[in-house]
Amino acid sequence: MGAQRIAIFDTTLRDGEQSPGCSMNLEEKLQMARQLEALQVDVIEAGFPVASEDDFASVQAIARECRGPVIAALCRAIPRDIERAWEALKEAEHPRIHTFLATSDIHLQYKLQKTRAEALQMIREGVALARSFTPDVEFSAEDATRSDWDFLVEVCKVALDAGATVLNIPDTVGYTVPDEYGRLITHLRTHVPGIDQATISVHCHNDLGLAAANSLAAVLAGARQVECTINGIGERAGNAALEEVVMALSVRRDALPYETGVRKELLYRTSQTLANITGSEVQANKAIVGRNAFAHESGIHQHGMLSHQSTYEIMTPESVGVRRSSLVLGKHSGRHALAKRFEELGYPLDRAGLDKAYKLFTKLSDQKKEIFDEDLLAIVQDGLTHIPEVFKLRALQATAGTAMFATALVTLATEAGDATETAMGDGPVNAVFAAVDKLTGLSGRLLDYRLHSVSRGADAVGEVFVQVDFEGQPHGGKGASTDVVEASLRAYLNAVNKALFARRSRKPQAVEAGV
Ligand code: KIV
Ligand code: ZN
Repeated sequence: MGAQRIAIFDTTLRDGEQSPGCSMNLEEKLQMARQLEALQVDVIEAGFPVASEDDFASVQAIARECRGPVIAALCRAIPRDIERAWEALKEAEHPRIHTFLATSDIHLQYKLQKTRAEALQMIREGVALARSFTPDVEFSAEDATRSDWDFLVEVCKVALDAGATVLNIPDTVGYTVPDEYGRLITHLRTHVPGIDQATISVHCHNDLGLAAANSLAAVLAGARQVECTINGIGERAGNAALEEVVMALSVRRDALPYETGVRKELLYRTSQTLANITGSEVQANKAIVGRNAFAHESGIHQHGMLSHQSTYEIMTPESVGVRRSSLVLGKHSGRHALAKRFEELGYPLDRAGLDKAYKLFTKLSDQKKEIFDEDLLAIVQDGLTHIPEVFKLRALQATAGTAMFATALVTLATEAGDATETAMGDGPVNAVFAAVDKLTGLSGRLLDYRLHSVSRGADAVGEVFVQVDFEGQPHGGKGASTDVVEASLRAYLNAVNKALFARRSRKPQAVEAGV
């Protein structure tokens, strides 16, 4: 008999996207959804359509485009939310309405001001309404792990009776521990008649660093769907990391006799795609996908590794898509080699894409001797976005020093031709941003600025992420260059162009949010 299948429900675009610094625009969400589809997750939770017009549009776009996986949309157990979720989802090949209501006394009393009886009524009506739209309905008992177990049994009975096909038991505040969570799942399985006709799902937050362990304990107790996010992003300390859950199930098949449909060799690329889109760098010692996850530093370890890889590695880097040596191309590499390497990295480029990438690559290889995979990924993420470049960098000159004001001279290509401005600032980056503001007529307020090196060496490409408030709306931008002032300018311009794109395609009014 084969191993039992665990469904992987990815909520990077919903719960993950709710975390600070991880917001994505429609184009970026689509790019991430395509990557999740390639990764072969079972379910993509695409967003929370009632939260905003942008969220609605993203769910709709993903539902239209991603045909393989189930596409889920979140909604509270109230009619307006559920109708809105269905409106966004209805063109999906496999739509799922995911409706939720809090069930702990703490949430019922302080957040919802509802009695348990009122909650049961809302669940009954909400699930039934969702079922009137689609046969695939998930119900989540928010804060389940702090709910009264007997009440949770009632909740599950009502949701099941009203037609829920998936019952999710979230550890919303990351409070439970593996043994207790496993016992809770067992309690529900033994006290809710017919529960095994539904899929039991788990959704763990990482406040105590136990999200993956709790998810696996629940699987051992009978859960068959795990909700998780790439790189573990999510509210507060995040959600269970998809790559950790998937690789634990794969590496410890002896202790956990289950399988997933995830293409493990795409885990690293998916992690990088998310990090590049959001600018949230993966911590170096992050399990599976961190920069150091397969690095061996001490002499004893290196000696062991040279004798046999199994001494210090429980899985190979290749098994999750990390190349042992990522040194790839240099100045004399041609278009063909570049196209091939991009394809290996999972970015098959069309002619126009390759032309653009090659231009960026040759410019980079003039500045830098060795070009690593990380550099190429930065090129592809930075240079090939679909945001129209209303303003484009033509030239930059910046000066700075300890005994002078920093100054910048910036020339941009604009719709009316090239234009140049100068400005002073606290430092060269500040001066450059001020010059750009003069040129664009937009006044940006910098909310966040992050700089990191994408590869190794003194000539490494620096990647800058900014978040800038234009006209009361935050816009993320990223830029890469071996010169950090230029990378900063490119990031800022990227945010300017996004702001203009959003302004030109703005739709009416966002509606109220709130999970
Ligand atoms: O953490 C949580 O409880 C959630 C639910 C809405 C599923 O994200
Ligand atoms: Zn959550």
